[in-house]
Amino acid sequence: MFKVHAIAPQRLPELLRVMPKAELHIHIEGSLEPELIFALAQRNGVRLPYASVEALRSAYAFTNLQSFLDLYYAGASVLLHEQDFYDMAWAYFQKAAADHVVRAELFFDPQTHTDRGVPMAHVIEGLSRACRDAQTQLNISADLILCFLRHLSEEAAFETLEAALSWRDRFIGVGLDSSEVGHPPEKFARVFARARELGLHVVAHAGEEGPPAYIWSALDVLKVERIDHGVQAIHDAALMKRLAEEQMPLTVCPLSNLKLCVFKTLADHNLGQMLDAGLCITLNSDDPAYFGCYLNDNYLQTFAALHLNAQQAYKLAANSIEASFAPEADKHRWMHDLKQCFQGFFEQD
Ligand code: ADE
Ligand code: ZN
Repeated sequence: MFKVHAIAPQRLPELLRVMPKAELHIHIEGSLEPELIFALAQRNGVRLPYASVEALRSAYAFTNLQSFLDLYYAGASVLLHEQDFYDMAWAYFQKAAADHVVRAELFFDPQTHTDRGVPMAHVIEGLSRACRDAQTQLNISADLILCFLRHLSEEAAFETLEAALSWRDRFIGVGLDSSEVGHPPEKFARVFARARELGLHVVAHAGEEGPPAYIWSALDVLKVERIDHGVQAIHDAALMKRLAEEQMPLTVCPLSNLKLCVFKTLADHNLGQMLDAGLCITLNSDDPAYFGCYLNDNYLQTFAALHLNAQQAYKLAANSIEASFAPEADKHRWMHDLKQCFQGFFEQD
C-alpha cells in the first residue's frame, strides 16, 4: 500500500490539477461547446433555434436528466461529417491534456446520428482518428465505448451493434445511456449478452435517477464491469455491501448530479460517504460542455465542497487508472507516475 504523507492544505488544489488521472465517464457529444455548435451549424448549413452562443448557453438550466437530454440531442444535430466528429473529440482531448488526463474512455451515441441519416462511418472514423491523434500528439491513451440509447428498443440496439461491427477494432466496449427511469437494464439483456460474446467490455448507466434495483440488474443481468453513476446505491445497504466487496467501479459525476438536481447542493453529494464505505469510486465529468466543468473542475469543486483530503485524492486517481480498460503495462506506468507526483508534494519531516 502506498502511504500518502502530509501535504500542505494550500497545495491540495495544485496536486488535484497535476496528478495523472483517467476519465472513464465522458459522453463525447456532451463535450460539444456552444461555440463549436454554432461554428458547425454555420459550416453545415444547419439552422439552430437560438440567436447566439449566449442565448444557447443561457438555456442550460436543467431540472432533471430529461430536461438536459432534450438539449443535448438538439446540440448534436449539427454533427454531420467525419471532420465534425473529429473536431468535437479533438477539442475535448485538448482540455483533457490540460487536466493531466492520461487515459480517456469516450462514450458515443451512434443512434443519435444514424437516426438522422448520418453514416456510421462518419461517426466512428472521425472519433477514432481523434483518438489516434490524442495518443501521438498529446500522449493521451484513448478508446471508444459505443452506447445504446435506452429509450429506444433492444431491436434498434441490436441493429446498431451489427452496423458498428464493420469497425469492430475501433471500439472496446458497449454502454447504456439516455432516459433511465422506465427503461431498466433487463430491457437490453440479449444485446449485452451478444456484446460480451464478441469480447467487448460492458458498462451501463444505473442508479443516476433510477432505483437501486437497476444497479442490481446491471450487475446480474447485463454483467457489467463498471456502473456509471450508481449514486442511488446509498439507499440499499445490501447493495452497498456487495459493491464494496466486489470492488465494482462506480464512475461518479458530481457536477452532473448537481446540475441535473440529483443532489440539492454539492455539499449534499454522497461521494465522500461512498468512499468511506470502501466502494471503488472514480470521479468524472459526464457532459462537461453542458455542466460547465471539465474533469479538474469536478475534482476541485468536489474536494472543496466535501472537504476531501490528499489520501482521498490518491484513491480517486488510483481507482480511475485501475478501473480503466487500458493494457496492464500502461496502468502500471501511470500508477508509478501517480506515486511520483504525490511524492513531490509531501511535506519534509
Ligand atoms: N447521455 C449523456 N449524458 C447522460 C447522462 N448523464 N445520463 C444518461 N444519459 C446520458
Ligand atoms: Zn453519463
